[in-house]
Amino acid sequence: MSGEDTSGNAVRRDRFSGGPARSFLSSLSADERIFDADLAVDRAHTVMLTEQGIVDAESTKAILAALEEIEAAGFGALPDGEDVHEAIETAVIDRVGPEGGRMHTARSRNDEVATCIRYRLRGDLLEAIEAVCGLREALLASAAEHVSTTMPGYTHLQPAQPTTLAHYLYSYEAAFRRDTERLTEAYGRTNRSPLGAGAFAGTTFDIDRERTAELLGFELLLENSMDAVSTRDFCLESVAILAGLATTLSGLAEDSIGFANRDYLTLADEYASTSSIMPQKKNPDALELVRAAAGEASAGLDGLSTTLKGLPRAYNRDLQEATPHVWRTVDTVTEATDVTAGAIATAEWNGPALADAAAEGFSTATGVADLLASQGVPFRTAHEVVASAAERLGSGELAYREAQRAAIEAAAEDLLDDPLESYVSREALAAVLDPEESVASRDSTGGPAPQAAHEALEDAQEALADDGEALTERREALASAQQTLDKEVSAYL
Ligand code: ARG
Repeated sequence: MSGEDTSGNAVRRDRFSGGPARSFLSSLSADERIFDADLAVDRAHTVMLTEQGIVDAESTKAILAALEEIEAAGFGALPDGEDVHEAIETAVIDRVGPEGGRMHTARSRNDEVATCIRYRLRGDLLEAIEAVCGLREALLASAAEHVSTTMPGYTHLQPAQPTTLAHYLYSYEAAFRRDTERLTEAYGRTNRSPLGAGAFAGTTFDIDRERTAELLGFELLLENSMDAVSTRDFCLESVAILAGLATTLSGLAEDSIGFANRDYLTLADEYASTSSIMPQKKNPDALELVRAAAGEASAGLDGLSTTLKGLPRAYNRDLQEATPHVWRTVDTVTEATDVTAGAIATAEWNGPALADAAAEGFSTATGVADLLASQGVPFRTAHEVVASAAERLGSGELAYREAQRAAIEAAAEDLLDDPLESYVSREALAAVLDPEESVASRDSTGGPAPQAAHEALEDAQEALADDGEALTERREALASAQQTLDKEVSAYL
């Protein structure tokens, strides 16, 4: 027996001293990520235990002093252990003696680890939100310069209808705005405290869960103590949102790679790479890696959800393997978001080349059908006339307005009762065949017309400013809780 021996590790002693499975069991190296979180949780819990009269002030002082030393020595100086919680407790007992063991009164590693994960993840979510806001800012800055730059809009990779570059860029900004919203909601559900749930069944001690939540900056408690230690739904939610964000990023990366390939976009050298053999090459490697990040993120989601699937209540060690999926995913996606923001902010759009391409592939055809329909031709008939005109155009003449006009006239003659002139004037037809006028006429809410784009820009900038403020408020709330905790701790030292 080694009941008196405080030199071994605090939790396992020599009954489970290790053996072949020791490193398999240990999460210590992965736990570096929650080292600071665990120190904060230890401090808040110890302060609360003293305030509640559960632990004497002298032991508290010694424990808090030991935690200061452990923090200063750094993660690398921790004794070996099954995880960071055990290693820190061992280090406290090494310094304080058996009284240090009072730190773990009225808690379990189950509520401890769940609290640490939430404490760390909420900070990571704020970083992710900041990165997404940075990307939105870059998209809006480019959009503001290109409200009137026409470009081809695509469906099935084929030129479909002319639009503007601003309209295209807003389409991504809108998606990333929703990701900001989703991440913010996930933050709210992450920022709740499981501490005080014990192993799962609460405790006989008269603890104050609200107090530890307050000292750690959590907005709410996870009430049910079994739910509090069992659930990793907040991880699942965050990782799913990040995987969705990465999927959208991959689309933007893919588009940008294609645009760079056609010289519609010139990437800054910092976001490109070279070939080791072909001297002329400038490759869009950074964006290709952004495109690939979706693979890592969806692997993270899959790894996490299959680890969690079928776990019985309340705590099972499988949960230890769930967390690394979360860290990998949030790191990958946040970095990919930052890189995309940088690539977009530094890229040069080739306005004239985009405008030249805007009418490619008879992309104004829908506007012609709309014009005929507005002059009394049933839309389906108008669609047939223009489809027939498109068929009459040779592939080389698809973008030529003279050829387009002639083909439309010929098709109308075959398919309509009256000649084309009796439905639409030459000027009206010329206007819809002009990509710029075509874009300007599509001024429905959210459409590409410059007027609608100006409104969209204002809305988007306002939303971004609000999101930036909300982010600052959340950071301030966390910083102020940290200050309170620091103050409480120093009062004992
Ligand atoms: N390292 C563990 C984890 O990450 C901490 C909790 C250990 N709890 C237990 N009952 N073995 O989940």
